[in-house]
Amino acid sequence: MTLLVTGGAGFIGSNFVLDWLTQSDEPVVNLDKLTYAGNLENLSSLKGDARHIFIQGDLGDRALVDALLAQHRPRSVLHFAAESHVDRSILSPEDFIQTNIVGTFRLLEAVHAYWSGLPEAEKNAFRLLHVSTDEVYGTLAKDDPPFAETNPYEPNSPYSASKAAGDHLVRAWHHTYGLPVLTTNCSNNYGPYHFPEKLIPLMIVNALAGKNLPVYGDGMQVRDWLYVKDHCSAIRRVLESGTLGETYNVGGWNEKPNIEIVHTVCALLDELCPKADGSSYATQITHVQDRPGHDRRYAIDARKIERELGWKPAETFETGIRKTVQWYLDNPEWVANVQSGAYREWVAKQYQETNS
Ligand code: NAD
Ligand code: DAU
Repeated sequence: MTLLVTGGAGFIGSNFVLDWLTQSDEPVVNLDKLTYAGNLENLSSLKGDARHIFIQGDLGDRALVDALLAQHRPRSVLHFAAESHVDRSILSPEDFIQTNIVGTFRLLEAVHAYWSGLPEAEKNAFRLLHVSTDEVYGTLAKDDPPFAETNPYEPNSPYSASKAAGDHLVRAWHHTYGLPVLTTNCSNNYGPYHFPEKLIPLMIVNALAGKNLPVYGDGMQVRDWLYVKDHCSAIRRVLESGTLGETYNVGGWNEKPNIEIVHTVCALLDELCPKADGSSYATQITHVQDRPGHDRRYAIDARKIERELGWKPAETFETGIRKTVQWYLDNPEWVANVQSGAYREWVAKQYQETNS
């Protein structure tokens, strides 16, 4: 028994691989292109561990994926790989189309060919789990009910449109070819190994570096936050017991405006790593130009996965965010290493443009 994971060197994928191998001896073949967001340092604790087989490559490389499937004969494929940052999708959408749409299509074709040739028992047990996002549902008004699995898709950014397209392809390969798929649509994750282009890790690293904490617009945009290990446990649960062809919304019941998140991070840093001059990190908060087309509110109705599969998050936001801030304080080398030349170029481009 083996799993094939795509994007297992990214934020959620690496947390998933690490968690999987603490709970199971089933090997993981990890296919990752190692874009700017992929980081093998996340997986350094698995060095020399024969249960983790890392392959650098593109999920759109059909010959490579065919060969991996034939060689390792996985019982399931977990598809995490994506271009994942909304702001990058606004400045340069091309990679999002290539990986999230074309790459997902090529993966589906490869998996379909592999699955079609499996003996009956293995064919019945096989699963392709596609990891997606709540952003495909678009945006909510203040008093709208949270997103249910039955909500129509109304993606608003190049990122969410590309993820929505990928979700539709996955759905179609199930309905047309019978491919045994499962899809999860999750809210905003946070936790260890989160690349510091995203809100929470960016605020932590900027605060510690004495830089501005750039809040888009009025900071009253609402997101639902889920600790990454809870997302990983939801994926394990869906893989184990999800109904074929179904989608499951995954969330933390933690709706919060961005400005509150930033104040919470500052308060934790004030407590855990007080500034020498006694001032609060909150003095570094700066409101900058809003993200174009910025979705105002996301909220997840996670009752289906709880009702049907018995999954609930283990962390509250208070426990999860404390662990997260502490992890960044404990891992300054990881932060320094991801802040490569390419990262610095991105920050200069993004925040110069949003400030102007
Ligand atoms: P990430 O950007 O941290 O990691 C993505 C990984 O995919 C990287 O390791 C990258 O190298 C790899 N990758 C990119 N293009 C590839 C390609 N063409 N072939 C092979 N590998 C490639 O992303 P993440 O935050 O870990 O998100 C993982 C998945 O979860 C994505 O599908 C994302 O849409 C989804 N998701 C993310 C969140 C969140 O809050 N981060 C929430 C819900 C869903
Ligand atoms: O909802 C799930 C999605 O969450 C995932 O599908 C995406 O892959 C993931 O990146 C995330 O998307 P968001 O756009 O919500 O995450 P981000 O961390 O970029 O931004 C969170 C909120 O904070 C959003 O309203 C924009 C705001 N923000 C973000 C940055 C980077 C700021 O105010 N300032 C910033 O500098």
